[in-house]
Amino acid sequence: MQILYKLPEHYKTIINHLVDTNLEINLLDGIFKKHDVKKILDVACGIGRHAIPLSKMGYEVVGIDFSPFQIKKAEDDAKKESSNAQFVLQNANNFSYPEKFDAAICMWTTLGEEPLQYWKVIKNIFQSLRKGGIFVIDNKSWEHIPESKEKFIENETLGDNGEKIKTKIHDRFTEHFRIRDVIHKIGEKEYQDLCVTHILRERLGGPITKSWILEI
Ligand SMILES: C[S@@+](CC[C@H](N)C(=O)[O-])C[C@H]1O[C@@H](n2cnc3c(N)ncnc32)[C@H](O)[C@@H]1O
Repeated sequence: MQILYKLPEHYKTIINHLVDTNLEINLLDGIFKKHDVKKILDVACGIGRHAIPLSKMGYEVVGIDFSPFQIKKAEDDAKKESSNAQFVLQNANNFSYPEKFDAAICMWTTLGEEPLQYWKVIKNIFQSLRKGGIFVIDNKSWEHIPESKEKFIENETLGDNGEKIKTKIHDRFTEHFRIRDVIHKIGEKEYQDLCVTHILRERLGGPITKSWILEI
């Protein structure tokens, strides 16, 4: 498990410069309204970055994640924010859920991320959707891979307790994978990681470049 998923207290601060949660929520809300979605399964939900705000907008949301640290933080935050989102500790590779959902989401390039096995996960998700349900994937815009096939990202910010949080990312891209070396320095503590993400492609076409909506 990536070190980031063991640091839920710092997760939002660390990823803040890489995501736009409000924009993502608005996009999801627009898609859900169009498809008459009320009940959502958030696969690999993390700390409930989408599940909690969506539940507060009136959606019924169940989030699953295999990190006990992320799930605990999601549950604590849901309580604090009077959200009725439900969180379940479960591995997406082999989950099954007794109820059917109108939609499933898998946000922030997670579907391609090791050790998540995306074909198994897609199969499990489709079994959890009602007929006519939708699956929304938020995936990397792989056309932005630089020609050098390498990318460096550095960020420095302050955590909730005023501690300095520095993140250094070094990405290398192959035809099929993004290989990411990452260092998080939180105060005086340093955490290193290596993360591998599959570049998801359409069967016959190029890399997936937009959010996909798969309908069943
Ligand atoms: C990039 S984060 C995204 C979290 C959340 N969707 C978001 O957008 O903030 C990936 C999440 O996937 C979870 N994860 C990775 N592999 C998983 C698996 N096999 N089953 C369930 N969760 C998994 C991690 O614990 C982590 O919380």
